[in-house]
Amino acid sequence: MQVIASLGDLRKIRASMRGVFGLVPTMGALHPGHASLVQAARKECAHVGVSIFVNPAQFSPGEDLKNYPRTIQRDLDLLENLGVDVVWTPTAESMYPPHFQTWVRVEALELPLEGSSRPGHFRGVATVVAKLFNCFRPDKAYFGQKDAQQVVVLKRMITDLDFPVEMVICPTVRDSDGLALSSRNAYLNPEERKAAAVLYRALNAAKEQFRKGERNAEVLRSTMRSILQSEPLAGEQYVSAADPETLGELHTINDHVLLSLAVRFGKARLIDNFLL
Ligand code: PAJ
Repeated sequence: MQVIASLGDLRKIRASMRGVFGLVPTMGALHPGHASLVQAARKECAHVGVSIFVNPAQFSPGEDLKNYPRTIQRDLDLLENLGVDVVWTPTAESMYPPHFQTWVRVEALELPLEGSSRPGHFRGVATVVAKLFNCFRPDKAYFGQKDAQQVVVLKRMITDLDFPVEMVICPTVRDSDGLALSSRNAYLNPEERKAAAVLYRALNAAKEQFRKGERNAEVLRSTMRSILQSEPLAGEQYVSAADPETLGELHTINDHVLLSLAVRFGKARLIDNFLL
């Protein structure tokens, strides 16, 4: 496995590779959710690249950029064991040098849900992923359904800007109590960690109603809301039952619905979703 920091070296190594190249973009602090993306890429691609970059542009002022968990040596050991070919660890200064001023905005899709709680977040995500695509030139790129809006935003960007990249979406990997794995789970104290399973319980309750035929989106939202409210440590940021493509809140569900929620537990802000 080659671990490189400079873009020049990355381009050289990439140019020497023939066959399908799969990219897994990450911010490090890797867990089995990230590993599942790498394993999917390893199965489907001749070469697998991973980027580890805590992207300052997708953190709002006052968010956890400084404290975001960084476990680089453990990450590299894991990626080596998974059979990754190349890991790129650029610096913030090289990605955003002085005078940097070109941004990718996916105008409407970046506004609701996570966008409303985290203004500028998806501008940072779309811009860095566009740069990663230009630097790695992948044939396939692997993302987790865990970040559902990120998937929708990046799909739009790939289509609109004609990136020759096939997006592969992998299912959310969960702990035994249903909590979606996330680097930010490291912020939870034991009590909060136990309480955090309420996200999964809320989504499941709404899913069960949907399965029984409920098509009024407001009923599903209020079911999720009331389950979150039963957990005193949970601070709801939003609950949503939205159109999976436009991300607009639904009144009546015709066929598919994206249930999603964001909840605060102490220092941690957790998100989860079901696509039904
Ligand atoms: P990060 O949070 O490190 O996640 C990297 C990838 O792993 C994302 O595609 C995310 O959806 C996926 N992932 C995270 N937890 C998962 C889980 N429990 N199950 C399955 N997949 C999971 O998402 C980002 O980084 C950044 O926004 C990035 C795309 C790298 C741009 O900076």
